[in-house]
Parts: sequence; C-alpha cells; structure tokens
Amino acid sequence: MILGTPLSPAAIKVMLLGSGELGKEVVIELQRLGVETIAVDRYPNAPAAQVAHRSHVIDMTDARALRALVERERPHFLVPEIEALATDELVRIEADGLCTVIPTARAAHVTMNRERIRVLAAEELGLPTSPYAFASSLEELQAAAARIGFPSFVKPVMSSSGKGQSRLKSADDVAAAWDKALSAGRVREARVILEGEVTFDFEITQLTVRAADGTHFCEPIGHVQKDGDYVESWQPQQMSDIARAKARDMAAKVTDALGGLGIFGVELFVQGDNVWFSEVSPRPHDTGLVTLVSQYQSEFALHARAILGLPVDTAMVSPGASAVIYGGKDARALSFDGVDAALKIPGTDLRLFGKPESFVKRRMGVALARAGDTDAALARAKQAAASVKPR
Ligand SMILES: Nc1ncnc2c1ncn2[C@@H]1O[C@H](COP(=O)(O)OP(=O)(O)O)[C@@H](O)[C@H]1O
Ligand SMILES: [Mg+2]
Repeated sequence: MILGTPLSPAAIKVMLLGSGELGKEVVIELQRLGVETIAVDRYPNAPAAQVAHRSHVIDMTDARALRALVERERPHFLVPEIEALATDELVRIEADGLCTVIPTARAAHVTMNRERIRVLAAEELGLPTSPYAFASSLEELQAAAARIGFPSFVKPVMSSSGKGQSRLKSADDVAAAWDKALSAGRVREARVILEGEVTFDFEITQLTVRAADGTHFCEPIGHVQKDGDYVESWQPQQMSDIARAKARDMAAKVTDALGGLGIFGVELFVQGDNVWFSEVSPRPHDTGLVTLVSQYQSEFALHARAILGLPVDTAMVSPGASAVIYGGKDARALSFDGVDAALKIPGTDLRLFGKPESFVKRRMGVALARAGDTDAALARAKQAAASVKPR
C-alpha cells in the first residue's frame, strides 16, 4: 500500500460508517498515517466527526442516501463502525467496484443479523453454540421455548447492545419477551432467536486481526456485561491451554469465513476446557478499549494498519483493564469533575468521548489502567471511573 497526503489528489480516503468512540480512535490512528478521514453518523458532532477531516450526517440505513454519499466522496475504503447499515447497498457498492468495504460487504451483511451469523457459525462451520431456534410469532416462540427449555434468552435477530433482549426463567415469561423484542427490533420484521443459556465460568472477546500476511490473535479479553452493555474488561483473561487453543481455532474459522482485512471481536463463552461461539463483530469491539493501555498497538491501531495492508503486532505492554463511565443523567453538554483525582491513581488513563448528549445509561467515557496483574488493573480502572463525576 502506498500512502498519500490528505486533502490532495494523492490522498488515501477512508469513510467511517458510524462515528462513535470506537470510530474516533480508528480515525486518530488513520490520521497519524496521513490518511484522509470522513466520518458519517446520524447526528452532528459525533465523537469521530470531531477528529475526522470532515463529516456528514445521513440515515445510514437509507440505501439511496448511502450510495449518494459514497459516489460523492469516492473513498478508497468504507469502514463500518456499527451494525445498523443498509448492508444490501454495501454489497452493491462492493460489487460495482466503487470502493473496498471493510472487512467485506458480506461480513457486514451476515453479522448484522443474528440468524445469518448463527447459521453460518453453527451449521456451516460446525462451531459449538448455545442450543437455538428462530421464531416469527408468539406461537412459534412458545413452541421453541418448550423445546429448548429455561433459562433462555430471546433476542431480535436485528438488534444490538441488549436492545429488546429478555432472559426467560419459565414459560410465563415468553409473551412479555415477545412484546419486548417486537418493540425494540431494528426493523419491523418480527423475528427473534431463542438461545438456551450457556453456563460459563467467564466470557471473552477474542480479538482477531486479518492482516495482509495472515491472521493474528490478541490475548483474550475478559469482560462483565450488565443490561446488554459491557461495564468492565481486562486483558489477559487467564484460561486453560486447551480452551485458549479452541478459542483461536474458532475465531480463525469464523473470521476466515467472513474474509477481508481488519479486526474482528469474536465473543466466546468459556467453561473449563469448553468454548462456545456467541457472536462476532467485523470491526473493533467495545470491550477492546482496554487495548489502548494493554497493547503496543491498540485494536484501533491494528484495524487501521490491517485495512491499509500494513504489518500488525498484537503484543501486550502490560496487564490492563477498562471501566465504563456513564452519563448518569439525560442532558446536553456535560461537564466532568474529578478528572484530576482519577488520573492521580497510578497507571491510569482516561478517554472522554465528547458526545454532545448524555443519557443515564449512555457510555460517555472510559477509565483505563495498567498494573502488575489484571485484578490490580481492574481495581484501579474502577476507582478512576468512579472518581469522574459527570454534571
Ligand atoms: N445463550 C446465552 N447464554 C449465556 N449468556 C448469554 C447468552 N446470550 C447472551 N448472553 C449474555 O448476554 C450478553 C449479550 O448478548 P449478545 O448476544 O452478545 O448480545 P449483543 O449483540 O447485544 O451484545 C452476552 O455477552 C452474555 O453475557
Ligand atoms: Mg455481544
């Protein structure tokens, strides 16, 4: 890959679809390599829009609006940062040779729908997963729940970040779960996946980079999920050699099947030597924010390099951890008190995303920490996060 000069005819141009905190770090890494960056989101002044060369506000689920913008900007690379995109149009854009979709248009298309990725992983690749069934009506869901049993999870096939999800304890919970899924799905299609609950010791994100010279694995990231969002993560997660090898093997299989170049977050459940595939994001993963302090090349740097066909290095600097900072209220233009107290804690760092609007449960920042082990790093990250007071 020959790199260029931004804002000139020699520029290599990257357009980000979705401009949140993960995209912001990707843009910063691309900026460092002199790549011209264009941030797109559905609202103005999104985090990545604040650091990109320029930005656009469009409805990215609108195929015509997406196509028109790509034709106007003619980026070399189109880099999805979120799931909710007109992925049919991405497939056409790629087929028409307009630009390279990262990692591939098909990867974006398959992974945005829980049915497509589950069928690929479990039925085509033979990866172990939770028992599952799909349903398009309350009656079908009741039958599926009776078959798969409890506890189990109901999720709209088109949704992310826990939206519309329920955990069923008994048949009494099915009707409410169906209503919740219908009201929260991304599209009007009434379709859900029912998954039997996997009993796990811990869950991990296996960050996997498909680079020009092959596939590279990061050390596993452990994390805690609450109400559909991650609250804490750490790296490395200790696991048995057998489970570690299985995790890498499963991650290699699913990322090979999706293809292209870039980073993937492969979500896995682990119990002893057993590993189950849960889902995969063909882009940086929120739990991977920890890599900003724990790796020489963060997941964002790895993504930027891999996209451009450059060499990558997944080596760690130190055990590390991250703890999320929520807005804690519905308001515009927050201020953050206590940043000095947070950064006084040894080994800590902070990202404040600059989102123009806060919600009670919106992620507004993240505290990061290094230490001699992940327990100590996590304690520091949590203390730092608690020290930051949004107001
Ligand atoms: N089948 C399952 N068994 C056990 N835990 C699950 C299962 N499905 C989901 N979970 C829990 O819920 C979290 C969110 O589910 P996930 O499918 O990853 O949804 P999202 O796309 O919103 O991240 C998981 O990280 C895990 O903690
Ligand atoms: Mg998930």
